[in-house]
Amino acid sequence: MTVREILKMGDPRLLRVAPAVTEFDTDALHLLITDMLDTMRAANGAGLAAPQIGVDVQLVIFGTDSLNPRYPDAPLVPRTVLINPEITALDAEIENGWEGCLSVPGMRGVVPRHARIRYTGFDQYGDVIDRTVDGFHARVVQHECDHLMGKLYPMRMTDFTQFGFTEVLFPGLDASDDD
Ligand code: NI
Repeated sequence: MTVREILKMGDPRLLRVAPAVTEFDTDALHLLITDMLDTMRAANGAGLAAPQIGVDVQLVIFGTDSLNPRYPDAPLVPRTVLINPEITALDAEIENGWEGCLSVPGMRGVVPRHARIRYTGFDQYGDVIDRTVDGFHARVVQHECDHLMGKLYPMRMTDFTQFGFTEVLFPGLDASDDD
């Protein structure tokens, strides 16, 4: 088990546009994914993008397959490895919702996101992923894939009156981790 250091906002490596993965089912890719899963679990994250641990490729993982103390009210999202993703909004509806990010520890903000999306990409073996989702699942995918374009959620916010410290905004939330 290798928990990697998560880069924090302000690190220029979080602002890069990541290149596509070109080789699937390699030892290096599987090792990277194992490290990312360990790192996400250790931080109680709902998702993690490779650039957040300083690896500049189009790879994200996400999922809330057990109750997550950081998102106790969130619906379950299947654990997913998503490579070279493409997102298409299915209609014009935008939803506001609270987000946090392991690269912006201790804070939450309300972010407008597409309510319904189709996303496509590949898993670590090169098999196609093609899903149509809404709600929290759609939000998590948009948040994680933004990391591949050098975007952190505060850069998507429109109302900074709804941005602050988790311990102040949600005093009842599990404080056992730093986000
Ligand atoms: Ni994030």
